[in-house]
Formats: sequence, C-alpha cells, structure tokens
Amino acid sequence: MRLYSSLLLVLLLLLINNVASRKLSHFKRHFIRAFWDKLKDKIKDATTGKFSLDFRQFDKEAMLLFPDIGFQSLTNDSVWNIIIHGWRFEGSKRKDWFGFSASQWIERIAKQAVDKSDLMYLNGSINRDRLKPFFVEDESNEKITIKIGDKTLLVKTDQQGQFYQEIQISNDVIQQLKQQQQQGSSITYDAIGDNKDEAKGVIQLIEPRQGITVISDIDDTIKISEVLDKVRLLANTFIHPFKAVPGMAELYQKWRLNNNNCTFHYLSGMPDQLYTLTHEFISDNNFPDGSFHMRHFGWAASSIFSFLHSQSTFIHKTSHLHVFLANTVRDYVLVGDSGEKDPEIYATVTKQYPERIRAIFIRAIKGESFDDQRFLTAFEGIPKEKWQIFNDPQQLPLDLSRSPGAASG
Ligand SMILES: *[C@@H]1O[C@H](CO)[C@@H](O)[C@H](O)[C@H]1NC(C)=O
Ligand SMILES: *[C@@H]1O[C@H](CO)[C@@H](O)[C@H](O)[C@H]1NC(C)=O
Ligand SMILES: *[C@@H]1O[C@H](CO)[C@@H](O)[C@H](O)[C@H]1NC(C)=O
Repeated sequence: MRLYSSLLLVLLLLLINNVASRKLSHFKRHFIRAFWDKLKDKIKDATTGKFSLDFRQFDKEAMLLFPDIGFQSLTNDSVWNIIIHGWRFEGSKRKDWFGFSASQWIERIAKQAVDKSDLMYLNGSINRDRLKPFFVEDESNEKITIKIGDKTLLVKTDQQGQFYQEIQISNDVIQQLKQQQQQGSSITYDAIGDNKDEAKGVIQLIEPRQGITVISDIDDTIKISEVLDKVRLLANTFIHPFKAVPGMAELYQKWRLNNNNCTFHYLSGMPDQLYTLTHEFISDNNFPDGSFHMRHFGWAASSIFSFLHSQSTFIHKTSHLHVFLANTVRDYVLVGDSGEKDPEIYATVTKQYPERIRAIFIRAIKGESFDDQRFLTAFEGIPKEKWQIFNDPQQLPLDLSRSPGAASG
C-alpha cells in the first residue's frame, strides 16, 4: 500500500493542485481521468505480482544524515549538547521502476494539463534522481547505533524513518575530536545500521559563545524556486538545474570574512528528500557551508506546494529558531523572502527575543515596495533599523556588527 501511496503522492504532487486551480476543459479532465485509471491498473498489476520479476534482491537500506548543530551548555562549560538527525529508508529497484514510469506518465499528463504559457516551464524531462528520494520507503522502528567521541548509543527511528536526538558530550572530548578531525568548527560522528551499513554525520559546533549566527531560508532567498507558482515551483524543483539568486553567495562570503565568528545555518520548509541536491547546490555555488534544517515530506501532504505553504512550515521554522536562541547567547541575523511567511515568522521570534535579533533581511520577490503594508504590519513594534527589505543583495550591509539602519545614523 505504501507503494501505491507514493505513486499517488507524486501524481498528486504534480497534478491535483493544477487541476483544482486551473479551469480545465471537460475533455482534458476526462483525459486525465483515463490516464489515472490506467496508471492505477498498472500499479495493481505490479503490486499483485503480475510482473514476474523479483525485485527484492535489489532492495537496499540506506541512511541520510543531515548536518545539525552542537552548542556548549549555557550553565556548564564542560558540557556540549550535540543534535544528531538522520533518516533511514529503503530504496528498491521496484520503486525505481515505478518512479521511472510515473515520471513519464506525469510528464505527459502535466503537459496536457497546464496552460500554454506554463508549458515552457515543463520543457525538460523530470529529473529522476531528484524524484527518487520520494520513492523510497521510510523505515520505522529501526535501531541505529551512534558513535560519537567516547559515546556509543542506540537510537530508534520514528514513523517517518527519522531519528533526532540530543546527546551530551564533554568539552574535553569535543576538543579532542576537533584536534583529530581538523575540520575547523565541525566534528563528525558515525551511524551504523542493522545491516552494518555505515554513514558519517556532520555536526557544526556553534562556537565561540559570542558571535553572529546567520539563519537563511533557501528557496527564493538564495535559490530561484518561484515558490508562488505551482508549475514553476515544480519545474524548478524537479526539471531545471538549480539556479542561485545572483549576488547572495558573494554577500554571505563577505559576511563570513568581515564578521568574526559568523556561523551559517539553512532553515527551510522544503522536503528533506531534497537535502542531497540542496547541499550540492550550496557547495557548487560557493555559499558558506552550514547545518541544514529541512522538513520530511510525509504522506499526509497533498503536494509540495501545499506542504511548503502550510502552517507546519511556520511551526517548523519558529521551533528551530527557538532551539537556536534558547541555547546560545549569540546575536542572530535572519534572512528570508516575501514568497513564504518569513517576515511573519522572523517578526514573531524577534518580538520574543528583541535583544538577540540583530537584523532581518527580506528579499522582496513579488515586486512589492519596501514599505508594503504587509511588511509594516508584520514588523510593527520592531525598531525600523532592525529590518530591511531588499531586491538586490548589494543593498545589504557587509558589516553585521550593528543593525542595518543604525549604520547610516
Ligand atoms: C558540569 O558537567 C560535568 C560533566 O557532566 C560535571 O561533572 C560537573 O559537576 C558539572 N558542573 C556543574 C557546576 O554543574
Ligand atoms: C526551459 O525553460 C526554462 C524556464 O523558462 C528556461 O530557462 C530554459 O532555457 C528552457 N530550456 C529550453 C531547452 O528551452
Ligand atoms: C570571536 O571569538 C573570539 C574568541 O572567543 C572572541 O575573543 C571575540 O570577541 C569574538 N568576536 C566577536 C566579534 O564576537
């Protein structure tokens, strides 16, 4: 049944929103229904074993470890809290095959369904490698052995195949690991699955205590995703090469160099199934490396568009910001865009930690004026010098030691 839902999911992901929101001719609707029925038959044949190929031998469990953070305890210098976060799943050739057929079907259907003007966005093939992580099975209740420094412990995956755990490590051990591993402020740990498969995870230590932490959204803040348009969001996510917002990587690199002790963290509402690609995007485009905090795409969401724009993105982002703010004494710079709820999310957190948020930068992606009522409403009560709307990264200050508006005064 899982298989069935994953296909259903991808189809929904690409289609239902379009179909629902666009006026389709009666013929087209009928056409899609016919395709859908055929597709369902195919799935039924495969799941009931009408295809005689035995795919099981190809099934393979794997793990993905997301770079997370470690912070020194606020009350005890000799203790660090390290957050490990991973995902256990099983890929299979059978699902690859489904993914492949589904992507072909989806392509054909999508091309029939969208407006002519959108067709140019679906001018390439769906990238199967990008779709693949959506076609694996989350492995729940799996035991994973974590080895970090002098500690070995067992964690268990949840319903979505995820594990997320805070581990206490002594400062001595952390310093030893840094010495041995020579990766600056990052340390690694090992995760071992029940098939003896191993993966290496990265922890970015938030150090020293004093410094600036930049938290950045990804889609439409540093990467052109066009999240406000269902078709373009899908095309930019699954078809076209990822494109960086011009000037943002240069800006972040300058921030890193000009401001001592600056760390970077990517906080996004997009599916963590896209993590590998997103990380590649970050390094290929020379953005500073950092930790990644994305969200697992589960079966309940009907499409990437509604997943991204849901209330749970709001909760995901605010709760991660709380983890950062409550566990460190650093100052924060929050960067986002007007396509999602970043202004509202960042304003909410700033009202809770007024002393700790040094600046909020919002990229206006809808051509809004910088004093658009939405921004005035969201940032009401927050000093004007703390927030700045921009459409060109060159408008932003390079020196983060003061709030942006304070610099000119
Ligand atoms: C700090 O943590 C260490 C290691 O857990 C412990 O031995 C020590 O007593 C703690 N110090 C304080 C002041 O709580
Ligand atoms: C496909 O469409 C995208 C978005 O409009 C465009 O950037 C790209 O050049 C097009 N590619 C081809 C081969 O037409
Ligand atoms: C950076 O960290 C060093 C070492 O802890 C500290 O002395 C310095 O004040 C920090 N600089 C800033 C700008 O926070």
